[in-house]
Amino acid sequence: MAATEKKPVVVTDLGVLNKPASDLLTWVDARFPLMENWNAHLAQYYAPKNFNFWYYFGGFAMLVLVIQIVTGIFLTMHYKPDAAQAFASVEYIMREVSWGWLVRYMHSTGASMFFLVVYLHMFRAMLYGSYQKPRELLWIFGMLIYLVLMGEAFFGYLLPWGQMSFWGAQVIVNLFGAVPFIGPDLSLWIRGDYVISDATLNRFFAFHVIALPLVLLGLVAAHLIALHEVGSNNPDGIEIKANKDANGIPRDGIPFHPYYTVKDSFGAVVFLIVFSLILFFAPEMGGYFLEANNFVPADPLKTPLHIAPVWYFTPYYSILRAVPPLFNSQFPGVIAMGAATMIFFALPWLDRSPVKSIRYKGPIYKIALAVFVVVFLVLGYLGTEATNVWGQAGAWLGGVERATVVSRICTVIYFAFFLLMPWYTKIDSVKPVPERVTG
Ligand code: HEM
Repeated sequence: MAATEKKPVVVTDLGVLNKPASDLLTWVDARFPLMENWNAHLAQYYAPKNFNFWYYFGGFAMLVLVIQIVTGIFLTMHYKPDAAQAFASVEYIMREVSWGWLVRYMHSTGASMFFLVVYLHMFRAMLYGSYQKPRELLWIFGMLIYLVLMGEAFFGYLLPWGQMSFWGAQVIVNLFGAVPFIGPDLSLWIRGDYVISDATLNRFFAFHVIALPLVLLGLVAAHLIALHEVGSNNPDGIEIKANKDANGIPRDGIPFHPYYTVKDSFGAVVFLIVFSLILFFAPEMGGYFLEANNFVPADPLKTPLHIAPVWYFTPYYSILRAVPPLFNSQFPGVIAMGAATMIFFALPWLDRSPVKSIRYKGPIYKIALAVFVVVFLVLGYLGTEATNVWGQAGAWLGGVERATVVSRICTVIYFAFFLLMPWYTKIDSVKPVPERVTG
């Protein structure tokens, strides 16, 4: 072999190949707790081994949050927060900007999917008592996220400056005007003008693209920190940390990575398929995700015949309409609507059941939760319709619209579900909870 020829290198110790990377890791770890966090929150974070379908939704919510932020950034590059240009700039995004239609539909579909996912995520907590001790603070952070999300959706909805944007904002801001004494000043302060105007659009834009997203991200971080402090609940409602092996590892736990990273990735693919089907085939979702009237530019001189919020607000909107005015003031309805959202905060203290999961709760809670779901859906449906959708009721019912009668009954049941909970969860029978998770 000539001196210039090189001998082929045969690597027998594969560890050598990893050396530069692991050196880099050591270098990083000496300066930043990368592996420590990887282990604490993924590779050596033990989650209950019996997570089911309902445990997908927290991950989905994180995925939608990322979609909203990324698509939002691209929309902001072309959108004009100016009452004279906003509507046209959205049309420009839809027709002229490369892939603009896709980005815009992803963002508008993402908004509805966000609420769908969050509602299912909250329902899971009601199924398995996930708000109960020691997860009260986790629940409170969740509720704060929910409120901020509602604000985020409300501010965002004004931006396309369509008829529904304008008149929807008008209705909601006017509600603040019903607050005794300070009402008119309060709504003036929110609008920054005597009517919804360019000034209102500018501030709603500022809230929508920077203020609330920052708060949202902070709250999601707090939510996850609280989650990892106490650990996840599970469909059996058993605390897995109460039963550890000699190494201090929960007997019913499995490492989050790779088990749940793989499971959640599969879920994410299915979710994205559903998301894409909506996006490509029904982005307006028959008017439920994007209302027809919002493809008409805002006209302060022309009130649409029927003003309804987007579906995710309609249960509360129904409650607002169900409560009759007092001395010509809508304030009682506004209070009822506010209370209907805020009452969820109290769930950890309203539920007095000795067991967490619905699997071991008695028939009363099962029936109460089922009735609550039906009532929430009926209120949601009625909120999308005009109050005369089912015609007029008989004189014996006060001659109001039938839909109003149904909304009133549903509103009473809605509040009864919460207010009677301390009583019925206490007297309800419970089944014995097993020592170990059942799968
Ligand atoms: C941006 C919105 C949200 C994100 C990104 C998020 C994220 C997550 C994640 C990743 C988990 C763990 C996985 C899972 O259990 O599904 C979780 C658990 C939980 N979340 Fe959320 N969440 C959000 C909103 C909410 C809301 C609105 C509530 C309630 C009002 C809530 C209440 C809870 C509870 C109670 C748990 C623990 C559930 C259990 O261990 O059984 N979250 N969240």
